[in-house]
Amino acid sequence: MKFNPRRIKVLVELTSKCNLRCGMCPLPVLRRPYEDMDFSLVEKAEREIHGLGMKLKWLHEMGEPLLYSRIDDAIRLFPEASISTNGLVLTEEVGAKLLSSPLKRLRISVDSINPKVYPQLRTGGDFDKLVDMTKKFLEQAKGHPIRIEIQKMRSRMTVDETIDDFRKLFELKKYRNARVIERTCEAFDVNEETDLHGKFYGCVQGAFFNWIVIFADGRVTHCCYDAHGDQIIGDLKTESLTEIIEGSKLVQMQALFDKRDFSELPRCAECFKHGGESAAWTGVLSGVQALPEAAKDVVRKVLDVRYR
Ligand SMILES: C[S@@+](CC[C@H](N)C(=O)[O-])C[C@H]1O[C@@H](n2cnc3c(N)ncnc32)[C@H](O)[C@@H]1O
Ligand code: SF4
Repeated sequence: MKFNPRRIKVLVELTSKCNLRCGMCPLPVLRRPYEDMDFSLVEKAEREIHGLGMKLKWLHEMGEPLLYSRIDDAIRLFPEASISTNGLVLTEEVGAKLLSSPLKRLRISVDSINPKVYPQLRTGGDFDKLVDMTKKFLEQAKGHPIRIEIQKMRSRMTVDETIDDFRKLFELKKYRNARVIERTCEAFDVNEETDLHGKFYGCVQGAFFNWIVIFADGRVTHCCYDAHGDQIIGDLKTESLTEIIEGSKLVQMQALFDKRDFSELPRCAECFKHGGESAAWTGVLSGVQALPEAAKDVVRKVLDVRYR
């Protein structure tokens, strides 16, 4: 299969283990083991990804990357990658490891600053501890070139919270390297409307093959929504990325997708459960995916009127 390395977004899941069991996340019901990636496989992933001229976007799919003991060594292999954390293992010691590594962007998924809503989203999390640890890390990283993003999750449950509320709580005026970003909750697991997310109407990625997601066990999927690994295209433990990308599995799956035959594509079937099969609509979604982040955010805000 012909592919453009600059169009593909790549994730390496250092670990599928997590200290939380968040309400909106597929991790609590993950249909694959909770495990760390062998460091030799992280090294192989680096050779393969960079060898094909691709850049790594994130050092996670599911799981908490800061639980990975060699997190700093992994960052050194992928200095272009970002990390998202639930913030609850961001001790001073872990903070020092990150700040002495080439990491450029750390996202802290706070999601809600309402102490009553927070535990419903981030099940198992301790709100006061998170606020304390985040404030301490902001201070530790003051003046450092790392970019810190405090994530706010938009949903019906957080509709009353504003970016300004987050900025005030974390006193972001004091920290020029920190800002609040907003994100929408999405149907990662099942495509039904909940207080956290709406329904999907077709392939949200706008194309079958936009991602390469390498799970902690080395298996590779073509979509970042495929948290459980229902649509595996290969295994990095036994194959090269080129073999996986050019292999017959991906070609066969793409052909089924193009015919909108979801009989062997359970994850795609979930996305298309509520319609959206037309090629024209997929084209619209594909156009949205190709927008720069800021423009995509405007589209998300428009779609989010459903929460109001
Ligand atoms: C799966 S987590 C892995 C990294 C880390 N454990 C964390 O929580 O940041 C990565 C990001 O996905 C977000 N997330 C989890 N479930 C989601 C959903 N259903 N829709 C959108 N984002 C989701 C989390 O808020 C987090 O920012
Ligand atoms: S969102 Fe992150 S912290 Fe929460 S369960 Fe999923 S992987 Fe763990």
